[in-house]
Amino acid sequence: SEPLRVAIAGLGTVGAGVIRLLDANGELIARRAGRPIEVVAVSARDRSKDRGVDIDRFDWVDDPTALARHPGADVVVELVGGADGPALALARAALDAGKSFVTANKAMIAHHGFSLAEAAEKADVALKFEAAVAGGIPVIKGLREGAAANAITRVYGILNGTCNYILSKMESDGSDFDAVLSEAQALGYAEADPSFDIDGVDAAHKLSILASLSFGTRPAFDDVATGGVRHVVAADIAEAAALGYRVRLVGMAEADAGGLFQRVHPYLVPLRHPLAHVSDSINAVVAEGNYVGRLFFQGAGAGDGPTASAVVADLIDIARGEFGPAYAMPVESLTAQPVADSGER
Ligand code: NDP
Ligand code: HSE
Repeated sequence: SEPLRVAIAGLGTVGAGVIRLLDANGELIARRAGRPIEVVAVSARDRSKDRGVDIDRFDWVDDPTALARHPGADVVVELVGGADGPALALARAALDAGKSFVTANKAMIAHHGFSLAEAAEKADVALKFEAAVAGGIPVIKGLREGAAANAITRVYGILNGTCNYILSKMESDGSDFDAVLSEAQALGYAEADPSFDIDGVDAAHKLSILASLSFGTRPAFDDVATGGVRHVVAADIAEAAALGYRVRLVGMAEADAGGLFQRVHPYLVPLRHPLAHVSDSINAVVAEGNYVGRLFFQGAGAGDGPTASAVVADLIDIARGEFGPAYAMPVESLTAQPVADSGER
């Protein structure tokens, strides 16, 4: 049967990971998807860079936005990053051209996801971003599909692999903050600007996406009260441990009569709570539904393989023709943010 033809912008940690995964598991993926998934065109900044994968077999396009007009591509995958700039230009161009669009870019989805979802619905194509939240954990699918029958009252978790790696290494072997941050960068976990990780902004992007899916509200990144781990020192971790706690960067969104509360901060997590035992770059998300009870999702939150796994899962859905609204309900049903809460409680 006809392959699903894919154009990919961005061939860094995640983009090269997607190509490696499609190469390695292509046959299995074709059986699952009902047809092969084939990369036809790619774009990045530097054509000559060694990426550990052969890209000479694909059409090369200098300007990523031009991928939206590539005549051979059915779907565009954006793995460049950045809330605006070339990523957003490509997203708008692809959806306007009537092509389904897949991204791992939580910054762009947190800031522009609502208008992109409107464009996708208008064009009757898919907008998918499983990889944008918690790396390889299928938490978007879990909330959009698995828990779709529930009213969700609270969603929270460890949403940044870099911070969790730093905190758990500082805790386990007393590593120095800056040295572990460099390790996380070398492992491909950190954002291009790692202050997004350590200042909690990346986790806030992800939390605003989870909150929208969970509560049926328009994504409201600007209303997330955000703090990071930049000022956590070894003594904080040691004192927390002496009192029976671990320090974890937690994002928490809760809907109650007062409105929607969205907050990202270092929390003291008691050792009896499963989040205290989530270490290294692992992420975990807890969602509380009124029929299903407490769901606990856990898995690799960053890195090439897990993130590629989530990107390709979205492509498989598109190849099967299985896609519904980006935010679990049509955009016209998403309510405006109830009373914005700065988190002062
Ligand atoms: P990288 O920095 O490794 O890769 C970015 C890629 O985009 C590079 O190939 C780069 O080209 C290309 N690029 C950058 N700017 C431009 C431009 N102006 N025009 C064309 N190409 C450009 O990033 P990651 O792979 O780590 O991340 C990609 C996306 O995935 C981001 O949105 C990130 O937040 C998200 N993400 C990342 C995860 C991770 O663990 N790394 C996990 C989940 C999501 P070149 O290689 O030539 O320099
Ligand atoms: N920089 C992000 C993290 C990548 O460390 O979690 C995964 O979204």
